[in-house]
Amino acid sequence: MTHFRFIDDALHCEGVPVQELAEEFGTPLYVYSKQQLVENFRRIDGAFAGTDHVTCYALKANSNHTILRTLASEGAGADAVSAGEIHLALRAGFDPAKVTFAGVGKRDDEIEYALGKGIFAFNVESLQELEVINGIAGRVGVPARVALRVNPDIDASTHPYISTGLKTNKFGIDISVAVEAFRYAASLPHLRVEGIHTHIGSQILKLEPFEQTARTVVHLVRELRSAGIGIHHIDFGGGFGVTYRNALRHPLLPHEAVNPADEAPPNDAFIAAVLPVLKEAGCTLVIEPGRSIVADTGLLVTKVLYRKDNGVKKFVIVDAGMNDLIRPSLYNAYHQIVPLTLRQREADAVDVVGPVCETGDFFARERMLPEVERGEYLAVLTAGAYGIVNASHYNARLRPAEVLVNGEKVRVVGERETFDDL
Ligand code: LLP
Repeated sequence: MTHFRFIDDALHCEGVPVQELAEEFGTPLYVYSKQQLVENFRRIDGAFAGTDHVTCYALKANSNHTILRTLASEGAGADAVSAGEIHLALRAGFDPAKVTFAGVGKRDDEIEYALGKGIFAFNVESLQELEVINGIAGRVGVPARVALRVNPDIDASTHPYISTGLKTNKFGIDISVAVEAFRYAASLPHLRVEGIHTHIGSQILKLEPFEQTARTVVHLVRELRSAGIGIHHIDFGGGFGVTYRNALRHPLLPHEAVNPADEAPPNDAFIAAVLPVLKEAGCTLVIEPGRSIVADTGLLVTKVLYRKDNGVKKFVIVDAGMNDLIRPSLYNAYHQIVPLTLRQREADAVDVVGPVCETGDFFARERMLPEVERGEYLAVLTAGAYGIVNASHYNARLRPAEVLVNGEKVRVVGERETFDDL
């Protein structure tokens, strides 16, 4: 995250002090760096240079319109998981021929909508879904391009809620029956079987599960070819992990202990690890990164409302809550938290908590934090992915506003809500 850094002890997003943004636009506030976004996309997409490929950004990570427009203008494709996301992608200028449609529970109207828009492919998750898509495609007279999502039963070693490639997960078609499933798909008159899809999970920090998946998929392509079923593309999914700890380092920040297992390899290392294997299949490659493109593109700024010490614990109560960023509450996820202004001061172990009426409404527990004061601002780092998209009105709280910084320029890209939005 090179575009968020301390300059003269003040946190900046590109050329703008984040404190100025908090004062002008209020809190809770998501702040995004355009340059970080573009660099992340180019680094990942560039790792495929010389290979026929499409980098389909997973909209679910952050579907802010300006972020989408920026990625579309960089030539990205889109990975959508609902008709709503297809609509957002097309509205932002993504080429329909680069839009994939995933998800275990596509409704009939969503399938018809996607067919009408001429998307690249449906990533199909069950035999029954194949039949339904075939039926709808026949009725509307538009053949459907499909890829079958296979579940390789590979452990991605990530949080169980975001592991998707195990037999016990709801996703995909079991690898052991994949060849028969492809045969069946090829027999349906209104389908064009074009690809294999896999996605084994999110926030994956090890290379081995990806390497194993790549080998499994390439083996399947060969098996299918011998069975007379040609495969045009491999959609390898997303899931490349990012580093949440020590995202920012500074002598005036408390040191955060890091288990080496929590450190993510650079994004391009994931691709470098699988590319030589995937290339053997001679197919077009599709990937669907979400987090690795937007996570370190954004942070959440919040204001300290109160401090409280009950003799057992010290609390820092802030004006953002689990309704603004749910990851710590939902996955016990770690996000580094820093004051916007650094100076020499004592550090203490505190719980950083929000105003929502749940004990699970926290951003950090027993975290070493410099002693902060009422009215001071804090930044919750690496919050660009799965942040605003999961924001809700819980407790009748308004969702945060969003600004995008580009050099010295600042743009409101998500208006602050009012009571009329409730
Ligand atoms: N493709 C498919 C089919 C997916 O299900 C996902 C994410 C992605 C691509 C993008 O994965 P990424 O590159 O972002 O890891 N809310 C959770 C993450 C849920 C991920 C769901 N699927 C979190 O905050 O960690």
